[in-house]
Amino acid sequence: MHQERLSKLRSASPAVLPSLLQCDFGDLRREVRQLEAADVKVLHLDVMDGHFVPNLTYGMPIVAGLRRLTDLPLDVHLMISDPAAYVDAFAEAGADMLTFHIEAVPQPQSLIDQIHSHGIVAGVALNPKTPLSALDGCLDAVDAVLVMSVEAGFGGQSFDPGAPERIAELRKRRGDLLLEVDGGIKPDTIGLCRKAGCDLFVVGSAIFGQNDYAAAVRQLRDAL
Ligand code: DX5
Ligand code: ZN
Repeated sequence: MHQERLSKLRSASPAVLPSLLQCDFGDLRREVRQLEAADVKVLHLDVMDGHFVPNLTYGMPIVAGLRRLTDLPLDVHLMISDPAAYVDAFAEAGADMLTFHIEAVPQPQSLIDQIHSHGIVAGVALNPKTPLSALDGCLDAVDAVLVMSVEAGFGGQSFDPGAPERIAELRKRRGDLLLEVDGGIKPDTIGLCRKAGCDLFVVGSAIFGQNDYAAAVRQLRDAL
């Protein structure tokens, strides 16, 4: 059943995924409606536990709240130390894709099975300093790889120029992988990642730092 959700994400690609980290949490309904009006196809949700990363955001209730607000697929980026303890709850909350960090779970086979058992797309993320070889044991088992182009934890950091090469290498290693990039994606960096073979582009500040989300998304799409 995760194949169904996977093909939905594939057919949306290449896609700009707004990261709901710097949005107005006091008015989520308005934020979501504006993003829908900007013709966004997938939302990216950043869950941080104050332990795996030195920042704390939100958990299942916000995911569940967003699920009630929209039919858009929800891509949930778990920057948490113990994802296995929360997979069932995030599935219940309505996640369509769950991405854990390889630095948190170096041997992830049972975690990937657990995610798939809910019919959810399984992704693995890695920070800029983590070698691609860390994925050797799971590259065939996951549906997606999220290449971090900043150190996970905060929005508004600058793009790691080594990211496109890592994306290209992963694309070479597995042609049917769903590839996602996150961090410092702006009109001047998005094209490099697309050229390297990336499918999904997570964007925080370059959308939420603008007044007109539709114009910001259009500018990013044009740069693809
Ligand atoms: C950072 C998060 C990102 C973040 C990106 O740890 O995973 O999703 O919101 O923000 P920008 O686009 O500002 O780098
Ligand atoms: Zn993210």
